[in-house]
Amino acid sequence: MQTELSTQLGVEHAVFGFTPFPAVAAAISRAGGFGVLGAVRYTAPDDLKRDLDWIEAHVDGKPYGLDVVMPAKKVEGVSEADVEAMIPEGHRDFVRDTLAKHGVPELAEGEAAGWRITGWMEQVARSQLDVAFDYPIRLLANALGSPPADVVARAHDHDVLVAALAGSARHARKHRDAGIDVVVAQGYEAGGHTGEIASMVLVPEVVEAVDPLPVLAAGGIGSGRQAAAALALGAQGVWLGSVWLTTSEADLHSPALTRKLLAAGSGDTVRSRALTGKPARQLRTEWTDAWDDPEGPGTLPMPLQGLLVAEAVSRIQKYEVDPLLGTPVGQIVGRMNEVRSVQAVFDDLTRGFERAVDRVNRIAGRSGQ
Ligand SMILES: Cc1cc2nc3c(=O)[nH]c(=O)nc-3n(C[C@H](O)[C@H](O)[C@H](O)COP(=O)(O)O)c2cc1C
Repeated sequence: MQTELSTQLGVEHAVFGFTPFPAVAAAISRAGGFGVLGAVRYTAPDDLKRDLDWIEAHVDGKPYGLDVVMPAKKVEGVSEADVEAMIPEGHRDFVRDTLAKHGVPELAEGEAAGWRITGWMEQVARSQLDVAFDYPIRLLANALGSPPADVVARAHDHDVLVAALAGSARHARKHRDAGIDVVVAQGYEAGGHTGEIASMVLVPEVVEAVDPLPVLAAGGIGSGRQAAAALALGAQGVWLGSVWLTTSEADLHSPALTRKLLAAGSGDTVRSRALTGKPARQLRTEWTDAWDDPEGPGTLPMPLQGLLVAEAVSRIQKYEVDPLLGTPVGQIVGRMNEVRSVQAVFDDLTRGFERAVDRVNRIAGRSGQ
């Protein structure tokens, strides 16, 4: 599976894997793909440094990248405490009541909320970049819009390609105009923040909108035949996020959550604002139902919602409160039915890709080619 982009990055297969887990990122790169570590969960620069050191030591010299979440709308110069102060009391009550209804225990005295995510605040994302550019990352991806011009320039100075996720051709054109090198066209099916256009429609639209920029197809890809379809749609590679969640290298810290993912069907996710304030695809749970209920208070905008629910999500995860327990994941969860190593997922993908291409070649009357 080689394209101009995979050749440029020096990877064997044009398979890009987003993951919050360093062990998964390193395994993807070692398997011949391109691992991209998600940085949004790192609040302390030293933690990111520790994990990038770990990747460096375990990646066998193979290339890898980093993903930050800098929203297009800036929250600059505003402290976390300022943002906390904007959260209405009624919303805090709703969180308390929902947790009480399900008997969710408190965290231990002084225990910090592990889920607390602040990486989408500009100053946090910038502190992550200060760390990242000390490492030989080959690609910097941004999730929520084009990164600011100075960040793009800084990446290019370090010989780092800049990628940005796009849920529409309009977003993709904005990225091109901002000097982005690679557009990740992420369809509605995807886990995490998504737009409303399905990959089958989105990918060729984006390919045509930003031609000749390389486009990676994301959303709903978990098999070789899906990867082959994405390349047929004009993508220069595939970008997968969900499938790695049930690999043996993933560190979900929750056997109950792994069981839920393995049991879920492709119809068991929902696009909800419950986690972050922006629509993100995740497992449908009684937690998402409560927030999506028109009788409820409704969600707050990013970054307020994320701060509001941080402690609650940590409690739900720590105590594995089944009806409320969830995670961002895409519709491809329906075929994540067993725990496998990253290498096994990878081999399945590349072999399935070859079979799918052979099949299409036969249909086109080109057997043996
Ligand atoms: C658990 C999880 C967390 C994610 N977090 C981020 C993120 O922080 N930044 C980002 O650019 N994309 C994030 N994504 C989206 C992925 O980068 C990727 O585009 C998406 O998973 C592709 O669709 P798929 O889930 O169908 O494979 C996340 C996806 C998942 C499943």
